[in-house]
Amino acid sequence: MKKKFYFGTNTKMYKTIQNTVDFILRLQELTSDISRDEIELFVIPSFTTQKDANQVKKPELMKVGAQNMGWEEEGQFTGEISPIMLQECGTDLVMIGHSERRHVLGESDEEENKKVLCALNHDFTTLLCVGETGEEKEYGISEEVIRIQLKKGLYGVTREQTEKLWIAYEPVWAIGVNGKPASKEYAEEIHRVMRETLIELFGETAGNRIPLLYGGSVNPGNAVGLSRMEHIDGLFIGRAAWDADNFNEIIRSVLEKR
Ligand code: PGA
Repeated sequence: MKKKFYFGTNTKMYKTIQNTVDFILRLQELTSDISRDEIELFVIPSFTTQKDANQVKKPELMKVGAQNMGWEEEGQFTGEISPIMLQECGTDLVMIGHSERRHVLGESDEEENKKVLCALNHDFTTLLCVGETGEEKEYGISEEVIRIQLKKGLYGVTREQTEKLWIAYEPVWAIGVNGKPASKEYAEEIHRVMRETLIELFGETAGNRIPLLYGGSVNPGNAVGLSRMEHIDGLFIGRAAWDADNFNEIIRSVLEKR
């Protein structure tokens, strides 16, 4: 049997509570016939939707994640949301280091590392996002940047903790309305480098087990091609997945042709 393929969406600062609930219910309905041995499905909506989203999710069908998290359980961190607060909502997964957190909101690798450790210590599935900027690509240092982001972001993570670790490669230049999707060959090459780095950090078995997802302007036209690449284990989709029917179509087209 083929390896499980990962499909997820981050809804960013879109979708109200009601929109999120409707989206999750529709997505579950549309995909309920697909065996979860074949796919892992996840949705990452805003903080304010966490409680409702987790109430309507069927744990056997999908995980619900948060888009960010503070690195302490409590304290003088105005505006932050702690792991305890997310556990209270029933959140399964925490995304750390999305490109908009790094480049619009100025987070550093050191901060991402504290969050990764905190998320893993609180037993969340932890999705660390990495990706180079257009300028770094231009300089020809994409691979170096990715290695640094992985080594700093995962510093202090134990081999056992990698069981709950996922990585997404999301080149900054490929994300959002002005983004250009990475070619499947380019994405594959970076994924190969990520795999090599993870093996260096955690050994063959653990390093090979961590799922590597590609994100950045994934759409119905490029999803199948990307999914067929050897080192791409999943697709992390923004805009093209925010309509449940479109998301379902992408999932099915990938499963048919993979
Ligand atoms: P996009 O977003 O698919 O709309 O480019 C991807 C992301 O930011 O995760």
